[in-house]
Amino acid sequence: MRIPIFELERVQSLYENTVEYNLTESGFHPLRLNELLNPDQLRELSETVLGYGQTNGSIPLRERIASLYPGQGADNVIVTNGSSEANFVACHTLLEPGDEVVMMVPNYMQIWGIVEEMGAVPRAFHLREKDLWAPDLDELRDLVGDRTKMIVVCNPNNPTGYTLSDEEMRAIVKLADGVGAWVLADEVYRGAELDGVESASFVGLYDKVMVNGGLSKAYALPGLRLGWLVGPAEVIADSWAYHDYTSITAGILSNRIAEIALSPDVRPKILDRNRSMLRENLKVMVEWLDSYGDLFHFVPPKAGGMAFMHYDLEINSTELADWLRTEKSVFILAGDCYGMDRYFRVGVGAEKEYLIAGLERIRNALRERFGV
Ligand SMILES: Cc1ncc(COP(=O)(O)O)c(C=O)c1O
Repeated sequence: MRIPIFELERVQSLYENTVEYNLTESGFHPLRLNELLNPDQLRELSETVLGYGQTNGSIPLRERIASLYPGQGADNVIVTNGSSEANFVACHTLLEPGDEVVMMVPNYMQIWGIVEEMGAVPRAFHLREKDLWAPDLDELRDLVGDRTKMIVVCNPNNPTGYTLSDEEMRAIVKLADGVGAWVLADEVYRGAELDGVESASFVGLYDKVMVNGGLSKAYALPGLRLGWLVGPAEVIADSWAYHDYTSITAGILSNRIAEIALSPDVRPKILDRNRSMLRENLKVMVEWLDSYGDLFHFVPPKAGGMAFMHYDLEINSTELADWLRTEKSVFILAGDCYGMDRYFRVGVGAEKEYLIAGLERIRNALRERFGV
């Protein structure tokens, strides 16, 4: 098999349903259909003819998505099965074997794996904890050259929750422009900012920009498997050719529900619900960490559904996560999944009582094993 195993995703798929407390989720506690839709909409949905629909996404949905970005129309959008399919399709549309791709790290490592699978060459530029997870732009400058086909960022970032400043975004675009490279921005956490100010999109900053988005994170609707790719119309048309091979289309029900979720009256309500959950839960997380003094180093996220922290305990992160999972039935994501031992990730988008109980379980376990 040529494709590298996507460890971060695989480890969650294997174990998330085997524990009492799964704290590996990176999004918000998902909405129920009947919380999202009113009775008329539920009835309308039950009368839907279950055809394929418009395979690159229904026109009203693509128009709605386009309206979230400056200067875009329906032809700039393709609807995909989750933003993960958008990442896959974007890479296959833009990259050739041998191309160099410079990618922000830490990151959701899907694109890294796709780049390797395609025979292209991934290189890392880092977010630095000492700089409160700001990107090391000097390192990026050193890495970008004539062979660079694409710069990949995740903004807001999984797992640090860092959001790029306008200045940092412009600097990244300038470096890409200098060598004619694409910028591929994974923006699936856009809308989940703690301060309520939606982070800017890369769309509109440069002509060679592709961004993804989707309903799995900021919108708490991962089960719809609804994502999208936005970019120049001709490249979006090319990406449709790949989409014909991967899945043909996202589901017709998901298209319709997404139209509703992104409507001007519903969208802000969903985002507000999730941001206030995040604020509440982050307080719980910070109190828990503070109670340990210097044992943990933690830079609070500016956005997203997770907390990523360094720990000073003499144990490898996979070993710690495996022990907590198998012996204590609480599941956290090991920093090893990001190539960063002595870190772990806790999802803070869960229901508050669940998060409190999960953290309490970890507290008892750490006391038992390490006396802390
Ligand atoms: C940064 C990032 N991008 C993409 C995805 C894929 O999500 P989905 O396919 O559900 O949109 C995830 C999932 O965790 C993610 O964290």
